[in-house]
Amino acid sequence: MNNSVKFWDKIAERYAKQPIADEAAYQKKLQLTREYFQPDRSVLEFGCGTGSTAIVHAPYVKHIHAIDVSSKMIEIAQGKADAQNIKNVTFEQLSIDELTVSDETLDVVLGLSILHLLENKEEVIAKVHKMLKPGGIFVTSTACLGDNMKWFKIVVPIGKFLGLMPLVKVFTAKELADSLTDAGFAIDYQWQPSKGKAVFIVAKKAD
Ligand SMILES: C[S@@+](CC[C@H](N)C(=O)[O-])C[C@H]1O[C@@H](n2cnc3c(N)ncnc32)[C@H](O)[C@@H]1O
Repeated sequence: MNNSVKFWDKIAERYAKQPIADEAAYQKKLQLTREYFQPDRSVLEFGCGTGSTAIVHAPYVKHIHAIDVSSKMIEIAQGKADAQNIKNVTFEQLSIDELTVSDETLDVVLGLSILHLLENKEEVIAKVHKMLKPGGIFVTSTACLGDNMKWFKIVVPIGKFLGLMPLVKVFTAKELADSLTDAGFAIDYQWQPSKGKAVFIVAKKAD
C-alpha cells in the first residue's frame, strides 16, 4: 500500500465528519453540475471520498460508478448509500489508474478535489477524455496552489515524509486549463468562488 493510500485510509473517519468548508460554493457547484445531467446519463466519479456528492447527484442520473483508492472511504460511502437506500450508485475501491472503461461510453466524469493529488494528472485527463462520449463532460474542482501558495511545494515532501499529508502537486489555474485543452477539451465553464479557493471547471469533449 503506498503512503497516500495509507494517509486517506487513516483520515477517512475524520474526513466524513468534517463540515463542508463553503456550503454556498458547494451547492452552486452541485447545481452547475446538474445542468449537464439527464435521467439517462452514465457518470463516473473518481476520488469520490466518503460518497456525499455521488449520493446527492444519484436521483438526477441513470447510474454513477464512484471509485476511490481508499477502502475506508469506500466503506463509509457504501454505509451512507445503504442507509439512504440509494440503488444507482456503485461504490468501488479502485484507483483511477486501475480503472478500465471502454472508450466513449460515459456521459459525465467528476473529479472533485483530486487532480492536484495525482502524480500523473495529464495521463488521467487523457484517460478521462478517451472514456467520454463525444460531447461528454468532465467536471473538476481543484486546488490550484501555484496561484498564491507556490511555497507549498517545499512543504509537501516534508509533510509526506512525516505522514501528515498525501502527495500534493502545485500548479496554477491557467496550467490546469491548459492541461485540459491540450488533451482536447474545451472549457465550457470556469469559476473560482474567491482567491485561494478551488477552481471549478466544466470541460467538454468535442461533439
Ligand atoms: C480530498 S479527497 C476528495 C474527496 C471528494 N471527492 C470530495 O470532494 O470531498 C481526495 C480523495 O481522492 C482519493 N484518491 C487519491 N488518489 C486517488 C487515485 N489515484 N484514484 C482514486 N482515488 C484517489 C483519496 O482516497 C480521497 O478520498
